[in-house]
Amino acid sequence: MSESNYSERLEQSLRKALSTYPTGVAIITAQTERHGQVGITCNSFVSISLSPPLIAWSIRNASRNMPAFEAAAGFSAHVLSRDQSSLSKLFSSSDNELKFSNVRTTPGISGAPILEGCTAYFDCRKFAEHVIGDHKLFIGEVMDFYQAPADKSLVFFDGAYRTLSSASVGSFSHERVSASEILEVRSDLCAFMVQLACERADEDDFRRIEGAVDAIDRVSLTEARRERILAGLRFFDALAVASHNSAFKPIIDTLADIVRDQVQDVSVAASLPEMQSSRRRILNAIKLRDKQAATSAMEEYMRALSTREKSAANHVADISSALSTFERGTPR
Ligand SMILES: Cc1cc2nc3c(=O)[nH]c(=O)nc-3n(C[C@H](O)[C@H](O)[C@H](O)COP(=O)(O)O)c2cc1C
Repeated sequence: MSESNYSERLEQSLRKALSTYPTGVAIITAQTERHGQVGITCNSFVSISLSPPLIAWSIRNASRNMPAFEAAAGFSAHVLSRDQSSLSKLFSSSDNELKFSNVRTTPGISGAPILEGCTAYFDCRKFAEHVIGDHKLFIGEVMDFYQAPADKSLVFFDGAYRTLSSASVGSFSHERVSASEILEVRSDLCAFMVQLACERADEDDFRRIEGAVDAIDRVSLTEARRERILAGLRFFDALAVASHNSAFKPIIDTLADIVRDQVQDVSVAASLPEMQSSRRRILNAIKLRDKQAATSAMEEYMRALSTREKSAANHVADISSALSTFERGTPR
């Protein structure tokens, strides 16, 4: 492999490894007489200091916008909200005129245009700038800032835009949504999931569910609490796959997030004997494509699960660590 190919590969894998770090998405704007209004999408935005109030971001040395940011006395950093991914795309293009013809702005103290409708902005005077490798780091002192009430930020992770679904789930606080309300929804959803599984499951799905049921029974005999949690999650995962509707998977994952948020109420006590038999009955009913039996077994299972969860002891650390290491992709 030639040296340039090698360093290209290395750069690619470094970029990929860095993309495991989720960030928000910001747009940095500035204005000068000579360059007019400029703005770029940026995820290198970072907070640096509270006293003095400093933030920083970096720009590629080769960027066409570099001269404008170098010449400007200040800049504004905007945190994008979850519905502004198209604005992010627009500001990662190269046409500054087009960028600003699509968004309303007001002038900031720094002279930079403030974009309307963002989650937050930080209007800064330039505090320092340093060339570091192939980027230039700009540090700004915050002169003015604003935060929109209760707005959710856009997230960039693994090269794609995401929304903070688990954080929105965080708004399912104990005061607003009770554990029993969540359990009711989860129960109905799981009943629907097994009905679809009765219609659509194939031999592979039967095997996968059976494997998950066996695995739970095996770990139920031990005291390995973390293993029990993972086995339980795999059982639901196998059912979601057997429903052949890929919408269940993210929904079930979201429910797991809710459980994590409500973790103080969740038991990881040993599986009750009636749960063990309901799991087998769910499996058998799916194999026989008996929707009614599958639904009632699932309802019974969920009732037992709720009873167990409601009477739970707190095992926060165990469940959190199990959920965070749980591999969500189930091989088909
Ligand atoms: C999510 C996202 C994050 C980005 N972060 C940065 C960044 O931190 N620094 C940077 O120089 N470019 C970043 N870019 C690329 C710039 O937005 C893009 O190169 C620029 O707007 C195009 O102008 P240019 O061709 O003059 O660089 C990012 C793009 C996207 C989509």
